[in-house]
Amino acid sequence: MIDINFGCPAKKIIRNFSGAALMNNLELAEKLISAAVDAVDIPVSVKFRSGWDRESMTFIEFGRMAEACGASYLVLHPRTRASGFRGKSDWGKLKLLKENVNIDVIGSGDINTPEDARDMLEDTNCDYVMVGRAAMGAPWIFQRIDHYLRTGDDPGEPSLDKKIEIMLEFCRLMIDDFGERSACLKLRKHLAWFTRGWHNVTKIRPLMFSVEKYDDIEKILYDYLHGLEEVA
Ligand SMILES: Cc1cc2nc3c(=O)[nH]c(=O)nc-3n(C[C@H](O)[C@H](O)[C@H](O)COP(=O)(O)O)c2cc1C
Repeated sequence: MIDINFGCPAKKIIRNFSGAALMNNLELAEKLISAAVDAVDIPVSVKFRSGWDRESMTFIEFGRMAEACGASYLVLHPRTRASGFRGKSDWGKLKLLKENVNIDVIGSGDINTPEDARDMLEDTNCDYVMVGRAAMGAPWIFQRIDHYLRTGDDPGEPSLDKKIEIMLEFCRLMIDDFGERSACLKLRKHLAWFTRGWHNVTKIRPLMFSVEKYDDIEKILYDYLHGLEEVA
């Protein structure tokens, strides 16, 4: 599928009249969505915010327009561009959007736990949930949510051994995509996210921010794990 992002609030994107800036230009957004839908045979989804600011809450109009252009899904992050990532996302707006369109609505914003996912689905009647920041450094959140929604049981965070296994797989996948050197530069911030809250992690932070190859990462993580085992 192709997802067009009309939600990005970043200054460098807005300056270019892209991202959430297009919520102020319905005509151009409409042309873009229609052109994408006409050009491909796969689903096109459209992601947007509740509006530019509190005075311009255009999400219902925007959603209806995208539906009329042939979008297959709508993804709403119910914050305004002006509010960035601050405050709570307003799930009431998701409910309203769902009531005003006939295609599937995906809800985004503040899903941090499996219970949050259940609450959003129940409270707003949306069809799917999207996880953003909670997946950074914790990609197992998707499996946790899936398991919880199916069984009512949250398997919780994986063990440290399992986390390291997942992290190393994540690193290998990044290296497959970007090559070792470039992936390692990108991976530095991911390693910091993955290890947030780990015991005495400040000791290995400088090492993580200087990794240049896969072996460096493996060594840091295994040394850390064995160090903990020795203490225990
Ligand atoms: C670092 C970062 C990058 C993001 N990149 C995208 C993106 O490329 N496309 C998109 O539709 N949303 C993007 N988002 C927005 C998220 O999909 C999501 O709507 C938003 O973070 C709110 O959900 P959350 O509370 O689960 O993080 C990004 C968010 C963050 C923090």
